[in-house]
Amino acid sequence: MPPTEAEGLGDSFYPFLGNGGYDAVHYEIDLDVDPAANTISALTSITAQATKDLEAFNLDLSGLEVHSVTVDGAHAEFWRSGHELTVQPASPLAAGSQFETEVAYSGSPEPLDDPGVPFAKMGWIHRDGVVYTASEPSGAMTWFPANNHPTDKATFEIQVTVPEGLVAAATGLLISETTESGETTSVWRMDDPMATYLAAVYIGDFERIDHGPLYDGGPITRDYLPRDAPAEMAQALSVTPDVIAFLEERLGPYPFDAYGTIVMPFPLGFALENQTLSIHGPATIGPGIIAHEAAHQWLGNSVSPDDWSEIWMNEGFATYLHLMFEAEHFGADFNDAMTQVHAWLSAEGIGPPRGIEIQDLFGASVYYRGAATLHALRLRIGDDTFYEILRTHYDRSAGGTTNTDEFLGIVEEFTGSDAVALVESWLYDETVPAFP
Ligand code: ARG
Ligand code: ZN
Repeated sequence: MPPTEAEGLGDSFYPFLGNGGYDAVHYEIDLDVDPAANTISALTSITAQATKDLEAFNLDLSGLEVHSVTVDGAHAEFWRSGHELTVQPASPLAAGSQFETEVAYSGSPEPLDDPGVPFAKMGWIHRDGVVYTASEPSGAMTWFPANNHPTDKATFEIQVTVPEGLVAAATGLLISETTESGETTSVWRMDDPMATYLAAVYIGDFERIDHGPLYDGGPITRDYLPRDAPAEMAQALSVTPDVIAFLEERLGPYPFDAYGTIVMPFPLGFALENQTLSIHGPATIGPGIIAHEAAHQWLGNSVSPDDWSEIWMNEGFATYLHLMFEAEHFGADFNDAMTQVHAWLSAEGIGPPRGIEIQDLFGASVYYRGAATLHALRLRIGDDTFYEILRTHYDRSAGGTTNTDEFLGIVEEFTGSDAVALVESWLYDETVPAFP
């Protein structure tokens, strides 16, 4: 095997995810799916830019059989070891050059065990006649080869072919749908940068409900429900325009071309903010969790963590906004609600969001102590400065990534070091601080 670039980007929880030596620019994922057999025949092409001279480079791909790899149309050698797919182009790539890698592969995609999500298998899942993907943090590599880390975002085109009669959906804007000789092919485009973990496909007996643009010039909104879903399901999703309006008021314009929710016909155990098309089970389509996944479109999806240990920047922020929306929606007092959260955090002794172990990536420290951290800051500095900070945090990193230190830098810029110390005590101290 030739000398290759780093087999990972050194993430503190997932050191071997992602790969060094290049930046992915655009993915084209073409999947021909037999949902009954749960098999795919696939071609993924990755346009990337070399950041160094490269004799060989790696992609992340878990399971499946790779048939051939080409780079700029020429046959390339490849090797596999665990989830590392090493590719050696016919001739080395020069630093700065753009190149296109095509991987032809097939098989039955297997979900993986992700140490951050001990409660569910992640990636490509086949269940009760439905295929869905839920990939946060590491599962994207169960269905396409990628530079599988949020620091390398790219644009996407996803094409899915399924037997006529089934409905496929994917993240992005639907740009075509054609049926020919018993097969339906649909294409979705994501022209804004997307982290690999937020790409998703869904196949089953779904019904697409088109709502058109949310407002003049706004995102296209559409939901997908199980066919013959009870009327209450569509009713539950009708809160979405209010949710987006609430979030736009606080964060600025919705970041992408489309938004909507797909509801699975079975319980899911979580919801997930796939970019432009969040996935829910029937149990999570209340105003709070609908607002939570929508809030992630700004905070998590447009602004992503640059390391998985920074997950509170996704979940704490989304939880804070969802609790706020929920209080407003039900006419409850928000400060009372946060006081109750505080009492619970103290009673349970919930530790700091920056002190977690990998298995607590999606635990109470990250979600609830993360949210309370923001509330403590707001109580200290007042609504106006708080919202300026929130908005600046979003604006400065929209379309990219950020981390706690950058956020603390903004807090300092707007308020001075007292407030920084307060936020740090919430993020790093073992005991739960008092609210100011
Ligand atoms: N980001 C999701 C949410 O808070 C977390 C889902 C946890 N499960 C998972 N498979 N990553 O809505
Ligand atoms: Zn979340």
